[in-house]
Amino acid sequence: MELTEAMRTTGTCRYFRSDPVPDEVLHAAFDAARFGPQGGNRQPVRWVVVRDVATKQALADLYLPLWKAYFDGIASGDVNVGALPKSVTDADTFAENLATVPAIIVACAEMSGLHPTDTELGRLSVVGGGSIYPTVQNLCLALRDQGVASAFTTLLCIAEPAVKKLLNIPDEFITAGHLAIGYPEKGFPAKLTRSPVEEIVFAESFDRPYFS
Ligand SMILES: Cc1cc2nc3c(=O)[nH]c(=O)nc-3n(C[C@H](O)[C@H](O)[C@H](O)COP(=O)(O)O)c2cc1C
Repeated sequence: MELTEAMRTTGTCRYFRSDPVPDEVLHAAFDAARFGPQGGNRQPVRWVVVRDVATKQALADLYLPLWKAYFDGIASGDVNVGALPKSVTDADTFAENLATVPAIIVACAEMSGLHPTDTELGRLSVVGGGSIYPTVQNLCLALRDQGVASAFTTLLCIAEPAVKKLLNIPDEFITAGHLAIGYPEKGFPAKLTRSPVEEIVFAESFDRPYFS
């Protein structure tokens, strides 16, 4: 499919059909995703594809209490989200049914392959993720190109030690996120809700809109 169309419609899918995603489709998606950039071309990203019912259930069991705590925070106003109420209830239904998705892909990264340059700034370090998430998004786009939907999540990273043990992930790797994937029950979104270009791009100085 056309690239811009894929970029504009690769949303977070909450409802999946039960039929499996064939290995050929997965292979093509991983094959395209690996061309994502990473610092120093260190290629730290690894994937674990979980199709086994018991293992998906174990991941879902770890995820659900983390989601429920987050969900309660949204309801009480302690957690601030931009998502619409319907999106939040859909995410709740998704959490309740996570074990039934056709596959969960765990994105891992080798710590020595990350080169964070922002660790001494007295704020949250994010640069290491720059060697991981472009490749993850590439995977979502490459799946979308083949009609496969995805939902990227990070709450389960809180339970990284348990996930690493469950999936035999070596000590030197971290978990960077989890993708539920499958064919979408309700098709793909026509348009995602995002801020307009006029609000997010500045000319020369952060206080001067580029496109007014
Ligand atoms: C960094 C990141 C972390 C996320 N973590 C979760 C998560 O733990 N659970 C979840 O249900 N959705 C998670 N999401 C999905 C977002 O809620 C979703 O992308 C957002 O609501 C926008 O949805 P849309 O792309 O369909 O418009 C995450 C997305 C990103 C980019």
